[in-house]
Amino acid sequence: MEVEERRLSRKEYIAGLDIGTTKTCCILAEVDADTRAVEIVGVGLTPSDGLKKGVVVELDTTSEAIRVATDKAQQMAGNFAIKSVVVGVTGEHISSLNSRGVVAITGPDREIKPADVDRVIEASKVIVLPPEQEIIQAIPRDFIVDGEEGVKDPIGMSATRLEVETHIVTGSSVFLDNIVKCVHRAGLSVDATVLNSVAAGEAVLLDEEKQLGVALVDIGGGTTDIAVFTGGEVYYTSVIPVGGNHVTNDIAIGLRTSREEAERVKKDYGAADGSLVEPGQTFEVTQLGAAEPVELPRDVLVRITEPRMQEILSMARAELAKSDRLEMLPAGVVLTGGACQMPGTVEIAEKTFGLSVRLGVPRNVGALSNTVASPIYSTAVGLIKYAAREQLGLQEREKTVTLKQAIASFFKRLFG
Ligand SMILES: Nc1ncnc2c1ncn2[C@@H]1O[C@H](COP(=O)(O)OP(=O)(O)OP(=O)(O)O)[C@@H](O)[C@H]1O
Ligand SMILES: [Mg+2]
Repeated sequence: MEVEERRLSRKEYIAGLDIGTTKTCCILAEVDADTRAVEIVGVGLTPSDGLKKGVVVELDTTSEAIRVATDKAQQMAGNFAIKSVVVGVTGEHISSLNSRGVVAITGPDREIKPADVDRVIEASKVIVLPPEQEIIQAIPRDFIVDGEEGVKDPIGMSATRLEVETHIVTGSSVFLDNIVKCVHRAGLSVDATVLNSVAAGEAVLLDEEKQLGVALVDIGGGTTDIAVFTGGEVYYTSVIPVGGNHVTNDIAIGLRTSREEAERVKKDYGAADGSLVEPGQTFEVTQLGAAEPVELPRDVLVRITEPRMQEILSMARAELAKSDRLEMLPAGVVLTGGACQMPGTVEIAEKTFGLSVRLGVPRNVGALSNTVASPIYSTAVGLIKYAAREQLGLQEREKTVTLKQAIASFFKRLFG
């Protein structure tokens, strides 16, 4: 009898954690060990406010939000026990630069081995760091083999000299320690830290866009994260401490209302482009201390939201200009993050950047694609995609055992 040999494809799991200024999100994904295809199996989201401008200001509320978000994700996946997470980081304390490393290839066959690639990346990390700063990531952009540029995977090639160009991301040790501390307090360990904008780029950008030259602008609640990609890899990154929360604050002050009410009217009636307002349009808002809402022309609100959105985009443009690549972005700008959902944002962004602009949302991540098809999920989805590609944080499935199950199995063992 012929025995059919069937190799079951092995499944591994990755958990990504995005600790945002307005929400904390954990995504659990199944990764096919052979193809590295990613399928989301659990999504946990909870509002959180333990961060200001991307930096932890309250340890307890942040770790509680992490616990709630991971619990939700593992429940959705059928009581999966998440042990560790790949965490996104951001904040004004983050800086980046492009560096170079060089090593000689020795040994009898002069063949480039994985250890040589690790060595050359390490060599590129030898840079002068300001006090209290540490390296978060060293992302290889390009390998140069015996002077030949443009090598993506040098392993196995024969050479005497290997060089690498890396994009190095650094951040404040203190702020990074606090993120790690919150994750530990939630009972999890950290597999790796990844810059938010690099993660978001992984979720929403097409390979062709990264190859041509594209800028990602993620406008969140407290930060706007920027990443420029050229030649397929990240070339420039920057974080500015402004976002949708500033729009909400302006409304709360301008209309004398609570932050909650300001947030509601912003989402329902705000616009980044005044020309979208039709004559006679109105909205209702309850002002501080008032028992009844008042009806106001929508124009009054948009005169607050339009200039602030315009200002955020102008600041993003100024950051992009610092990359010296603003004129070299044929694939234009891709906007993501919750705040870019305000109507008119794409239109005024096109005028501000002088480039084509589109909205980016995560796609093609399995049966739960619809659940995460919103710009607020870009970072979390990108974290698992990045980790799957880089083989970070892979873990085996291990089910959590509920107390009820534990008692049942105890009696079963006792009485058969
Ligand atoms: N429909 C909408 N119109 C305008 N703004 C919106 C809309 N929906 C969400 N937002 C805004 O998006 C912001 C939250 O976006 P997001 O979830 O990307 O931020 P975050 O990841 O929590 O914060 P950050 O990345 O800055 O740490 C909030 O300011 C919220 O008001
Ligand atoms: Mg965010």
